[in-house]
Amino acid sequence: MERAVVQVTLFGLLLVLASTLPNKPFISFFHINSTVTSRYATTVITSRVANRMDDSKEIEFQVRIPKNAFISKFRMFIDGQWYDGVVKGKEKAQQQYTEAVSRGQSAGLVSSVGRTLEEFKTAVTVAAHKKVTFELTYEELLKRKLGKYELQIHARPMQPVKDFKVDVYINEKAGINFIEIKGGLSTNALSLKPVSSCFQAWVYFYPTEDQQKTCDGCGEQGMNGDLVIVYDVNRDSSLGDIKTSAGYFVHHFAPSSLSRIPKNVVFVIDQSGSMRGRKMQQTRIALIHILNDLAEDDHFGLITFDSSIFHWKRELVQANKENLESAKIFARNIQDRGATDINAAVLEGARMLNAHPREGSASIVILLTDGDPTSGVTNLELIQSNVRRDIADKFPLYCLGFGHDVNFEFLEKMSLQNNGVARRIYEDSDADLQLKGFYDEVATPLLTDVTMIYNGGTNLTQTNFSQYYNGSEIVVAGQITDNDIETFTPQVVAISRDRRVTFSDTNATMEYLGTDFDSHIQRVWAYLTVKQLLEKELLFSGPEKENVKKEALELSLKYSFVTPLTSMVVTKPLGENTDVLHKPKEGETTQGHSPVLSCKL
Ligand SMILES: *[C@@H]1O[C@H](CO)[C@@H](O)[C@H](O)[C@H]1NC(C)=O
Ligand SMILES: *[C@@H]1O[C@H](CO)[C@@H](O)[C@H](O)[C@H]1NC(C)=O
Ligand SMILES: *[C@@H]1O[C@H](CO)[C@@H](O)[C@H](O)[C@H]1NC(C)=O
Ligand SMILES: *[C@@H]1O[C@H](CO)[C@@H](O)[C@H](O)[C@H]1NC(C)=O
Ligand SMILES: *[C@@H]1O[C@H](CO)[C@@H](O)[C@H](O)[C@H]1NC(C)=O
Repeated sequence: MERAVVQVTLFGLLLVLASTLPNKPFISFFHINSTVTSRYATTVITSRVANRMDDSKEIEFQVRIPKNAFISKFRMFIDGQWYDGVVKGKEKAQQQYTEAVSRGQSAGLVSSVGRTLEEFKTAVTVAAHKKVTFELTYEELLKRKLGKYELQIHARPMQPVKDFKVDVYINEKAGINFIEIKGGLSTNALSLKPVSSCFQAWVYFYPTEDQQKTCDGCGEQGMNGDLVIVYDVNRDSSLGDIKTSAGYFVHHFAPSSLSRIPKNVVFVIDQSGSMRGRKMQQTRIALIHILNDLAEDDHFGLITFDSSIFHWKRELVQANKENLESAKIFARNIQDRGATDINAAVLEGARMLNAHPREGSASIVILLTDGDPTSGVTNLELIQSNVRRDIADKFPLYCLGFGHDVNFEFLEKMSLQNNGVARRIYEDSDADLQLKGFYDEVATPLLTDVTMIYNGGTNLTQTNFSQYYNGSEIVVAGQITDNDIETFTPQVVAISRDRRVTFSDTNATMEYLGTDFDSHIQRVWAYLTVKQLLEKELLFSGPEKENVKKEALELSLKYSFVTPLTSMVVTKPLGENTDVLHKPKEGETTQGHSPVLSCKL
């Protein structure tokens, strides 16, 4: 024990020494420039570093980017020359990687850190008294959740930097409805400027070196924190915004002036032994909050499972006061014990919903589990096919994987097969809030059986959605056949409560973005298409799987996206090792899951 303490102290001392030594590479500037146009964000991080020593030295570039983003460009400027990273198919890149490793050289890495970020790291040898400029670009489509879009920028240059700038430009032709800055970086250095009324906003953050040293998570190492920009846009047409450019379109559909549809929700809660302690406690707390938020015309069911199933009530009941009080008592008394029979539990949830009349309502199953199936049917494929058979596309299944022992891919696949999504719940002090937050996203169904129809459109991204919830958004992109706007007619057909509704007020909403954005809409289309192909790849098997994989790979290469199917090969000056950067899979954590430090100046 004592020895460990001594080692820690020594290590700490070394760190302090290292950071004050004059020979440390010197960052002369560090700029982050993010431009969001119609919810598609392109962010460029540029850093210029000098080697002030009399010997050549390896200089590292290490930044964190959102998991949802695809890196689309990386290059270095050394000694008057640009070295461009090249996106290659993973197998090709792997060869180069293996060769580099067999020569005893290290390879670069993109690894998961925290809940929302990935770390990009590379290094290059820089001659004495020379400089290197690193430039990384990544792209992402901002997802609307609970009525807002969120852009997260992680700022961590690893030392205080004299010329440190973060600029964010937001361009939304529909008009910015509100904008807010979070993440704790509130200081005089931070400013928000609406430009040209409220169609544009400019957020800039230029902290001094002193300000960079005096925030919570930072010190001699400089800034370490997130700038989070939250906003929403105006919506005056129920059909939403349709932007077109150079033969492509993107449709953002998020009507909010509809009445809510009562829901039938069944909570299927894992109470197996592994849920013991804090996880179980947080689940109880979250459940009680969720029950409090049910509307009186909702119906609900609650079952817990280990190797057996426990009903609060065998059928769905109305969320009236009396039933809710009784359910809360049940929820407070959930105890952990036994194994995990996911198959029986989900099938029972589906049975309860199938037995309940669904006319004029929206049905949902929410499964919360923290482990693999260990009891009853344990063959994953068999569970998936059973669940699919019983749900039969009638309602979505949402799977919440609690902690890091779950087989997340299994849950993800099962959700996708049943029109839902899987979400990871991180084991942390706020797990109850994460659970409640997920529930809030699906708490207010406004439409069911949504079909997006585009006559005169082709190569469309997903067009059918089982439910649409208030605060979310449906985004569809595609190509306009022969770029003929005249014959292109978007329309949305859906069920609102018990009535079929059609949205089709075309002419007011179609908008040409202008030649500056010719590649923009196309990139949004490519981004969405690749994301959805990667999901399909998970769902399919055999030749179908190979086909979507091939298509996703081709698009990733064409648009230079670093996806799970491609890698970025970082070219460097002659004689230097090649870095190969892979995108990690969801849940592939290489560095634990410590929360991201937030920064207060
Ligand atoms: C940020 O990028 C945009 C788009 O490329 C460019 O117009 C703008 O000048 C850049 N801003 C800064 C401060 O570099
Ligand atoms: C949907 O959300 C908006 C705010 O984002 C709110 O004004 C509206 O009342 C909500 N609709 C329902 C049915 O809850
Ligand atoms: C788009 O669709 C057409 C057929 O409708 C097809 O020939 C073309 O290859 C598609 N383009 C892409 C990029 O998928
Ligand atoms: C989408 O839904 C429509 C009508 O509900 C149906 O006809 C069509 O086959 C569906 N398309 C897909 C790709 O599932
Ligand atoms: C569409 O445009 C036509 C003519 O420009 C107009 O008469 C019609 O009212 C418009 N429709 C809507 C829904 O705005």
